[in-house]
Amino acid sequence: MKKPIVAANWKMYKTIKESLTFIEKLNSTNLDFDNLRLIICAPFTSLNSLNNFIQSSNSSVELGAQNIHHESEGAYTGEISASMLSEHNIQHIIVGHSERRTLFNEDDELIVKKAKKVLEENFNLIFCIGETLEQREEGKTEKILEGELNCLLAIINKDKLGKIIFAYGPVWAIGTGLSASFDQVKDAHILVRKIISDYFNISSDQIDLVYGGSVKSTNANELSQINEVSGFLIGGASLDVEHYTKISKIINEVKKINV
Ligand code: PGA
Repeated sequence: MKKPIVAANWKMYKTIKESLTFIEKLNSTNLDFDNLRLIICAPFTSLNSLNNFIQSSNSSVELGAQNIHHESEGAYTGEISASMLSEHNIQHIIVGHSERRTLFNEDDELIVKKAKKVLEENFNLIFCIGETLEQREEGKTEKILEGELNCLLAIINKDKLGKIIFAYGPVWAIGTGLSASFDQVKDAHILVRKIISDYFNISSDQIDLVYGGSVKSTNANELSQINEVSGFLIGGASLDVEHYTKISKIINEVKKINV
C-alpha cells in the first residue's frame, strides 16, 4: 500500500521561529512517521532552517516550496529559481494552486512552463486543479478538470507520473471552511484518475491524488474513507501542529483498516 500523503501548505504564514516551533513539536509526537508521507510546503524564508532541522534530526518530513520561476536565472525581481530551491533540499513544488491562478493571474501556459521546470530539475510536482463554484453550478466541472490536466499530461512522459502528486482542490472549498461533500470528492477523484489512467493507459492505482479544500480534523475521517483519495493538501488546519497531527493520525488509521 502507498503511504497516505499529508501535505501542509502554509501559504504566507509562519516566520522562521514559528516554523521551527511547529516542526520541533511535530517531531516529538507519536505519529507513525514510517507509514506516512508528511510534506511541509513552507514560505521560502523558512526553508533553510526547516531543512537544517530535518537533516540534523533525521526526520522523515519532506520539504516543499510553494512557487518557482520557469527560467533558470535572470532579471526577474522577486522570483525564485530551481537552483536556489535545490540548495535547501526541497523535494516538492506546488504549481497550479488556485490562489496562484486567481490572485496572481497564472494561466495554463505559465503553469505548464513551471511544471515542466519542476520536473526537468527533478523535483516532485504537486499539481493543483479544481473548478470554481460557478463552473460547478454550470455543470462544467468535468471539462475544467480535463482541460487543466490535459495541459500537463501533454508535456510529460508517463515515466514522470511517479514524481507527480495531483491535488484536486475545488476553488470554492479552499480557505472558505466549505469542504466538498463525500460524493463530490469521490466523483471528482474517480474522474481525475480516469482521465490520467486513460491518457497513459496505466492502472489508476499508480496515481497519487490528494484532496485539498478545508480539510480539518472534523472531516478528515469521512474524506479518508474515499479509496480514490491518497491523502490531503491542507492549508488553514496545517498551521496548527495539533490539528495537523490529528489529521495525519486519522488518515493513517483509516487507510490501514481499508487496505
Ligand atoms: P485550506 O487550503 O485547507 O485552507 O482550504 C487548501 C489548499 O490550499 O489547497
